[in-house]
Amino acid sequence: MTLEAVPSPLPPATAATVTELAHAAAQSDGVNPLSERTLLHLDGEHPDDVHVLAYEGDPGTIEVSGLQSARNLAGYAALAPDGSAELFVAPTHRRQGFGTALLRMLLDHGGPRTRVWAHGRLPGSDELAQRLGLEVTRELYFLRRTRADLPDPVWPDGITVRTFVPGQDDAAWLDLNAQAFADHPEQGSWTAKDLAERLHQPWFDPEGFFLAVDSTGTLAGFHWTKIEDGVGEVYVVGVSPTHQGLGLGKALTLQGLHHLQTTRSLDTIVLYVDGTNTPARNLYTHLGFKTATLDVQYAPTTPPTATPA
Ligand SMILES: CC(C)(COP(=O)(O)OP(=O)(O)OC[C@H]1O[C@@H](n2cnc3c(N)ncnc32)[C@H](O)[C@@H]1OP(=O)(O)O)[C@@H](O)C(=O)NCCC(=O)NCCS
Repeated sequence: MTLEAVPSPLPPATAATVTELAHAAAQSDGVNPLSERTLLHLDGEHPDDVHVLAYEGDPGTIEVSGLQSARNLAGYAALAPDGSAELFVAPTHRRQGFGTALLRMLLDHGGPRTRVWAHGRLPGSDELAQRLGLEVTRELYFLRRTRADLPDPVWPDGITVRTFVPGQDDAAWLDLNAQAFADHPEQGSWTAKDLAERLHQPWFDPEGFFLAVDSTGTLAGFHWTKIEDGVGEVYVVGVSPTHQGLGLGKALTLQGLHHLQTTRSLDTIVLYVDGTNTPARNLYTHLGFKTATLDVQYAPTTPPTATPA
């Protein structure tokens, strides 16, 4: 076994091979092992990211022309500058110690602030995490809703709704996103680069990105929907702190659900919601969403503080 920490960006052929391997794991496990962010960052310039490749035997030479040359790639791990991390082992290479080796390497690089995601909480993740002294510190629910009646949105006084205009709304939206997610840095810290990366994805559709505007013309909230592989997603919903508690979040959610279900004729809509976000979970349950899978995040257990002598 060889482990290799590779700086960002991964060479394109290596990024393509990791994507291919992650796809194979998703087919076999029924859940994607890597998040959208990690997949986007594979061949992007993100100097503070760490990529770890695990090979069976010597490192493979991954030729641009031949992904076959990387057939001995057994697993992959990613560490973001905020300590959040993901890892997976190819289904054909499990129970041979690769997961342990990758996780140890992540912990060596990330230290006590390492936070490892296990998407779908599949068999093995709890056992592996526990063995290396990690415990569950966060839960993220993946919810699914199939076609059903939807009430119409009821907008608070003075609010109008329109769609996002790329190039015009970027800065104001980033500001609103930072305010709405001040307590959720993963989302709230998005930069112009993070936004631009998404606006250039093949799935991006401004017609599915709704902005609520107040009577002064200020952005009050948004609902960004996403469609991939025939499935609609409540991608991000946010409301500025000054407009919270007025029913705007519910109205925006319904606006996007109507767009996905009625305008785009989609039968299935999915979303992710944090386990601690009880108000949002209640709203989604009320609108017919049901838990499909649960992602968990593990972190090193805090060592007990020494008792003074
Ligand atoms: C979880 C995962 C990374 C384990 O990788 P792996 O290379 O098979 O792990 P290892 O061979 O190092 O296993 C170490 C120990 O973990 C435990 N373990 C691993 N898979 C297990 C399973 N399916 N059921 C029960 N225990 C398991 C065992 O204690 C194992 O030791 P053993 O084989 O001596 O019994 C792999 O199954 C995977 O890629 N899953 C999908 C992605 C994921 O869940 N990532 C988050 C990991 S925290």
